[in-house]
Amino acid sequence: MTAGRFITFEGGEGAGKSTQILALADHLTAAGIETVTTREPGGTPGAEAIRDLLIAPGHPDWLPETEALLQYAARKDHVQKKILPALEAGKWVLSDRFADSTLAYQGFAQGLGYEFVHRLHEIIFDDFQPDLTVVLDLPVETGLARAKSRAGDAPESENRFERMDRGFHENLRTAFQEIAHYAPERCVIINAAKTQSDVAEAIWTAVTEKFEITA
Ligand code: TMP
Repeated sequence: MTAGRFITFEGGEGAGKSTQILALADHLTAAGIETVTTREPGGTPGAEAIRDLLIAPGHPDWLPETEALLQYAARKDHVQKKILPALEAGKWVLSDRFADSTLAYQGFAQGLGYEFVHRLHEIIFDDFQPDLTVVLDLPVETGLARAKSRAGDAPESENRFERMDRGFHENLRTAFQEIAHYAPERCVIINAAKTQSDVAEAIWTAVTEKFEITA
């Protein structure tokens, strides 16, 4: 039994997850709730080492199966050493990506299938899932343009998914929409094409409604 709450942020490239996580953390802190912000792949020293294998420039071209296994190897370390201890201490954990990213990227866009990823999740985590998943949805072109301007003039700093073709990113968007559609009790889709403050407001409304915060 955990006392804190686990909130994940999902979406394609350039959706604004990191900005919105910080905004939500500020709102929660102002409401007297202690938060921990983290990211995947990564979040612990071991999982960050695996992140380097996955997304640093010059990494090998992983098979989707290998990539899913590496994501889950990192995730196990992250959940066991950071997420669960924080939740047990009553903190609210805000994670930039979690299991839905493996479903969307490896399961759907890379063609591994949802079933493979679901079964892997069950083996490693049983039925452990976030309390709330915020899916930041926006047109592919807008997201890629934002991701590109973030990478500036140094394309080697872009991760390799940012360099993949338009169809890949359309598939990702569809995957996140489907995931949210099939788990409406856990997921909320937020229109991320609006201004940062409008998006932050929409997320705060969703969080206060879901958890009955009255601050
Ligand atoms: P980000 O930190 O910019 O979100 O980059 C992480 C990249 O890793 C992003 O392109 C999505 C990808 N990814 C997967 O392919 N599978 C996963 O399970 C996770 C967590 C991330």
